[in-house]
Amino acid sequence: MATIPQDEGRGNFGSLIGFVMAGAGSAIGLGNIWRFPYMTGESGGAAFLLVYLGFVALIGVPVLYAELAMGRASQRNPVGAFAVLGPKGNNPWAWVGGLGVVTGFAILAFYSVVAGWTLGYVAMAVSGQFSGGVTPEESGNLFGGLVSNPLLASGLTALFLVLTALVVRGGVQKGIERATSILMPVFLVLLVLLAIRSVTLPGALQGVEFLFLPDFSKITHIVVVKALGQALFSLSLGMGAMITYGSYLDRKSSLPFAGATVALFDTAIAVLAGLIIFPALFSAGVDPSGGAGLVFVVMPTIFEAMPLGDVFAVAFYVLLATAALTSTVSLLEVIVSYLVDERGMSRETAVWATTAACLVLAIPSALAQGAVGFFSSLPGLEISFLDLQNNLWGNYSLSIGALLMCLFTGWVWGVQPALEEMEASGDGLPLGGLWGFLVRVVCPLAIAGLLVYITVTGDFF
Ligand code: TRP
Repeated sequence: MATIPQDEGRGNFGSLIGFVMAGAGSAIGLGNIWRFPYMTGESGGAAFLLVYLGFVALIGVPVLYAELAMGRASQRNPVGAFAVLGPKGNNPWAWVGGLGVVTGFAILAFYSVVAGWTLGYVAMAVSGQFSGGVTPEESGNLFGGLVSNPLLASGLTALFLVLTALVVRGGVQKGIERATSILMPVFLVLLVLLAIRSVTLPGALQGVEFLFLPDFSKITHIVVVKALGQALFSLSLGMGAMITYGSYLDRKSSLPFAGATVALFDTAIAVLAGLIIFPALFSAGVDPSGGAGLVFVVMPTIFEAMPLGDVFAVAFYVLLATAALTSTVSLLEVIVSYLVDERGMSRETAVWATTAACLVLAIPSALAQGAVGFFSSLPGLEISFLDLQNNLWGNYSLSIGALLMCLFTGWVWGVQPALEEMEASGDGLPLGGLWGFLVRVVCPLAIAGLLVYITVTGDFF
């Protein structure tokens, strides 16, 4: 296939470092700081971490390379990428891209609810609500008060969606690259400081053991499925975000290097988040399987044990909100680039139409933490609407997407053209042959096996 030239007007990232920052900005977010710790806490600690790390290496990284290569080779959004790289004519693979766009939309809808909470926490930190220290009970009450207030929870969700829309409206380079290249490094430094504080709290050792000493009896099938979902979710895979970002990566820049850096940063930040949450949690005597509110309840108990605790609190929530924003931007960008490229919509219309529709789907999740009983515990499922969305789209749909992308890259588009695209800058992909075997055989079999198992056993949540 002839190489598709890169169009200057498409808006490439200015530099390799700009891409890495934006890619890491997409990957690093609530997935690392909110979702990873609570899933780890619910699923047995170190055993979950181990399976998670295995999946990042064996499935996450290969799929990341497949997505980046598809994007750069096709110069398109996910739907367009499958159309351009697949067989000519009536090409059913375009539906995989379509599933990705729908999945991104649904993820954005529950993600922005949690992101809205981070804005609420910025306000709480600024107004000194954590000053003088809070007990876990007080912290739990503050969390409950925020998330069970229907107007506040929905309003903050709407606010976060509007912030996302404003960034995406500004276009890729101006909007995304500038903000992330400054704030991400600051966030990393802050997290390291918080981890140091956390592991030196009294009784912290238990938390370190919980995170690093595996109890293998905790590994059940559903734990394995959640670990796979989390690996994909955290790296922003399985719905085409990295296809879209790959399309903005300059051919002169090294794709293998960019991918490796994003994966390393993302994984390091998740482990760092674990090192902040679990030692502090055991030190304060909080239950690790506390669910979706875990991080929000545990964090305020740490700040007062630090010099300048109030400053740390504000900085932490501002940076967490920013990390969430660079992730929601990547989700909205996929949908918008599809509507602009394939449906001929103007960027402005696409942004606001998507944002409005997304808010409608987000409201039930915003009301699912006590505000409305029905959404907080769905009849027959006994989980909240937020948990349902999180599992359905964030675990299953991403797994299906990743499976189909592997099959497409490995068997339809082809390992050879994909490798050529990855190596276009002159930098080779180390173990390129192994990568081919992973996307053709290992990843599809592993993912399909898991999906079949849970479908047969009905062992879903
Ligand atoms: N990876 C992000 C996080 O960890 C969330 C995210 C952004 C995402 N874009 C995505 C998840 C695309 C799945 C697919 O917070």
